[in-house]
Amino acid sequence: MTDFNAMADTLQAQSDALIAANHDLERRVENRTQRLKASLDELRRSREQLRQLSGRQRQLLEAEQTRISREVHDQLGQALTGAKMDLALIERRLRGLTDQPKVVEALETVRGLTVLMDETIQVARAIARRLRPSLLDDLGLAAAIEWMARDVAGRAGLRVTFTSDDSLGRLPDAIGTGAYRIAQEAVTNIVRHARASTMTIALLSEADGLRLTITDDGIGLSPVDPPQTSLGMLGMRERAEELGGAIDWEPGASGGTRLSAWLPLTQGPTATTPVSDNHTHAREA
Ligand SMILES: Nc1ncnc2c1ncn2[C@@H]1O[C@H](COP(=O)(O)OP(=O)(O)OP(=O)(O)O)[C@@H](O)[C@H]1O
Ligand SMILES: [Mg+2]
Repeated sequence: MTDFNAMADTLQAQSDALIAANHDLERRVENRTQRLKASLDELRRSREQLRQLSGRQRQLLEAEQTRISREVHDQLGQALTGAKMDLALIERRLRGLTDQPKVVEALETVRGLTVLMDETIQVARAIARRLRPSLLDDLGLAAAIEWMARDVAGRAGLRVTFTSDDSLGRLPDAIGTGAYRIAQEAVTNIVRHARASTMTIALLSEADGLRLTITDDGIGLSPVDPPQTSLGMLGMRERAEELGGAIDWEPGASGGTRLSAWLPLTQGPTATTPVSDNHTHAREA
């Protein structure tokens, strides 16, 4: 009997110890879970801060590019134009003195400089345009994208088909700039990576928003993730999402890649960028 009681006591003690250990374990798991949740919240907060920071950085870059573009266009452009006019004046004066061989030589130099000046003015204009899509203000988003695509693709020998829909009305500036920058990176990617011969761009109205599709007939996206140093597609996605829209890539119907972005047009009266200066149209180059 005594043995039995002793055994029961031991069992009870072991059971108590087990319950205590179990409680302790539960407490530790609970603690660990709390700490994990806190880390997860912290991680989410950091990612959100990072996303906001990168959005802010993009806005600052856009503003800085606009400023540099204006300086290149206004200051450099005007200085070059002034110099070209001075050269024209010198040329007119020298033309009356061509009986002197040294003057003939100088005249040739002046003519050479005038050609160089013209080319430099064109380069300055192209730099200013690339830094800032000023066509957005002048002609609207559709014309700006079409101009940019034909300019970039044309130099690489690619054919561009462009379609747009003028039922969109005026766009909020942020949407206009966002759509333009997405198109710019997509066109650059096609020229750099796709080995395509044609690209097709469409800018259409869809579900209270703007649908931009850019298709190429190239080699298609690689199934392997791009290196971490590749920022273009990441930036396009961030831009679209920051504006409350979405973007996706898929294989094109007949090979190549099809990018489809949708941006909302719900900001209403703050809209300032025109989409188009004329009617629905589709053109080919
Ligand atoms: N239209 C396309 N056709 C085929 N491959 C593409 C196309 N667009 C992108 N890619 C592939 O996806 C990768 C990632 O593109 P992403 O724009 O992110 O980076 P990147 O162009 O390499 O560099 P950057 O940061 O200068 O844009 C490219 O390196 C390329 O391999
Ligand atoms: Mg790129």
